[in-house]
Amino acid sequence: MRITVIGTGYVGLVTGTCLAEVGNDVLCLDLDASKIEILNNGDIPIHEPGLLEMVRRNVAAGRLQFTTSIEESVAFGIVQFIAVGTPPDEDGSADLKYVTAAARNIGRHMTEYKVVVDKSTVPVGTADKVRQAVIEELQKRDESIPFAVVSNPEFLKEGDALNDFMRPDRIVIGAEDARAIELMRNVYAQFNRNHDRIVVMDMRSAELTKYAANAMLATRISFMNELANLADKLGADIEQVRLGIGSDPRIGFDFLYAGCGYGGSCFPKDVNALINTARENEIDLKVLTAVDQANEKQKHVLLDKIVARFGADLKGMNFAVWGLAFKPNTDDMRAATSRVLMEGLWARGATVTAYDPVAMAESKRIYGDEPRLSYAESSMDALDGADALAIVTEWKEFRVPNFDALKAALKTPAIFDGRNLYSPEFMREQGIEYYAIGRR
Ligand code: UDX
Repeated sequence: MRITVIGTGYVGLVTGTCLAEVGNDVLCLDLDASKIEILNNGDIPIHEPGLLEMVRRNVAAGRLQFTTSIEESVAFGIVQFIAVGTPPDEDGSADLKYVTAAARNIGRHMTEYKVVVDKSTVPVGTADKVRQAVIEELQKRDESIPFAVVSNPEFLKEGDALNDFMRPDRIVIGAEDARAIELMRNVYAQFNRNHDRIVVMDMRSAELTKYAANAMLATRISFMNELANLADKLGADIEQVRLGIGSDPRIGFDFLYAGCGYGGSCFPKDVNALINTARENEIDLKVLTAVDQANEKQKHVLLDKIVARFGADLKGMNFAVWGLAFKPNTDDMRAATSRVLMEGLWARGATVTAYDPVAMAESKRIYGDEPRLSYAESSMDALDGADALAIVTEWKEFRVPNFDALKAALKTPAIFDGRNLYSPEFMREQGIEYYAIGRR
């Protein structure tokens, strides 16, 4: 099938490439010429494991192409995925200007039936706005070409996006038009083997499903984080509690890890967008409001523990920080806890030596030549002369450090671990002061 994907950001590029991988002909449009140039030069503008190889393979096979031409992209696919950005505006709601612009471009240039698919995470009701935008453009041209709008939310995790796309646990299709539903079933046929993973529903329910999924996951995390803070006071171990409750199949083990807060481009944005949508409809989402507040507080938990150990005035101290990305296998630092920690340390007079396997370039972009921040070549180098170590991201390479060398390098052998990487007993045996999240 011929498919157009509008937007070569994270979602668009992964979607386009995976659809090409299973044999579709895909044309990706981006109005940012620099992104298309990077792609046409055989590179990718984002970091995602395995994606570069998959892009190159499909470009070489002639199934994946890139363009900046709107006319060409509208003419190309019978299915037109809109996967453009929806940046939060001041009040946290998603800004839809790129989504509606993409819809208008389709309406302006289409000459035959099109399925317009919302892939970006958009507030409930956006599909109707997309439909309206296309209709308005068709009316300007005095045309009445048939088209359908579909809501098809993505559930990709950064760092594991290819696997999520290639082996989805569900494919949500919100559509009311029989022909569009049939076409969407064909688009996803290769990903829908063994048992039917396609859930067809109305558009508004599909739009709400995406927010409901992220809000539920964020709720689990904030819930566990609050219980971890309580466990700290009670002398209980949140990891034991996790095992104790996760064995109930209604609860399950996944996504119950206490830590120093969730970040990234999805949870914080989607939780706030849903709260705003609810408010506009005169519903006060009390649970979700608390989830967000608890998370904002949790991002300070490492600093609080550092202050409890070293005092409020950290002037002249240097802290090693392992991990800048909001989670492993990405260079994304959006809403990352590392930023709250580092900015808090600076405000109290300390300096930071950071190490991250891939996000240091992104950090340099954000913080420029911030004098209180320096970068180390390796995790162990970051410890040299540091007063103590704080761990923000659970990169694999942090899991088994040389603890003797670590102890020797730090002025105080103290680890503030925001991701509960080590066993508290083992740390005690090593003679390391260990401050984790909700561990005895
Ligand atoms: C998330 C959803 O998982 C995905 O389905 C959706 O499409 C987009 O949002 P992502 O933001 O890429 O994906 O990352 P994810 O792996 O879900 O982690 C989000 C944050 O939660 C990270 O900061 C992570 O450290 C934190 N987290 C996750 C916890 O603190 N505890 C957990 O148990 C799991």
